[in-house]
Amino acid sequence: MKKLFAVIGDPIGHSMSPVMHNDLFSFYQIDATYVPFQVKSEDLQDVMKGLKAMGVGGFNVTVPHKSAIIPFLDEVDELAARIGAVNTVVNENGRLKGYNTDGPGFLEGLKTHISTVAGKKVLIIGAGGAARAIYFTLAKEKPLAIDMANRTIEKAEQLIADCPYTVSSTALSLAEAGKNSGEYDLIVQTTLIGMAPKTAEQPLQLSSIKNQSLICDIIYNPLATKFLTAAKEKGASVQNGIDMFVYQGALAFEKWTGVFPDVQRMRANVLKQLG
Ligand code: ATR
Repeated sequence: MKKLFAVIGDPIGHSMSPVMHNDLFSFYQIDATYVPFQVKSEDLQDVMKGLKAMGVGGFNVTVPHKSAIIPFLDEVDELAARIGAVNTVVNENGRLKGYNTDGPGFLEGLKTHISTVAGKKVLIIGAGGAARAIYFTLAKEKPLAIDMANRTIEKAEQLIADCPYTVSSTALSLAEAGKNSGEYDLIVQTTLIGMAPKTAEQPLQLSSIKNQSLICDIIYNPLATKFLTAAKEKGASVQNGIDMFVYQGALAFEKWTGVFPDVQRMRANVLKQLG
């Protein structure tokens, strides 16, 4: 019988995950289908019961349900519990277990550009859910330091305080981070600033760039945000959000099927969808 996989969110129409995962199911000849469901927050608990009763193989969770879903799952893996957000659920013998592949997906994508985060001085811009997943994941990789820059400094301070892994960190304003930008080996932009249609915006001005630094933006629409374009003009290597998106999907697919999929195929598929 065909296995059901899904993504739940609200809104959900823009999701590129269904085309990406359905292409993989067909490529690997797995008898399964992946369906987007628009789910309202007040229906989340019922939807969990329904998906479970139907024997769902697994599903992705996106905005705004990544944290709200946790109480309705049977189990949550340690990293996801610490991050406080689940983006991937696996049906493990009738029990729904939540994972977070956003942070690990970012790290896997990063490794296609740099061999290690160990010893590096890192700046993360933003203190929302994506920043939290990336900060907690990178904190385990023995960086020299991870500073957090955010419009609301208190949120950056809170995020640092919440992290269970020891890492030297300072909370900065966006202006301070811009002024100090030349200190960092790796800068990761995690806010939605610069995303289409507001492509003229950027979270901060980079005053300078360290030699051989890598600047990442988790946005993939547009492929080059104003922030990334400015970084490139200053001589930095840059990485857009396609890798994080593709690798979070690849890690989810592996959890569901045991197959680590062809990421180049996934990337081509996503780029085609973006047009
Ligand atoms: P996500 O879960 O996708 O990371 P989020 O939790 O809504 O998104 O977080 C959005 C991030 O973008 C936050 O760091 C937010 O800053 P605040 O904590 O000060 O709200 C940041 N952000 C959003 N709009 C912004 C703006 N216009 N200028 C500066 N930062 C902004």
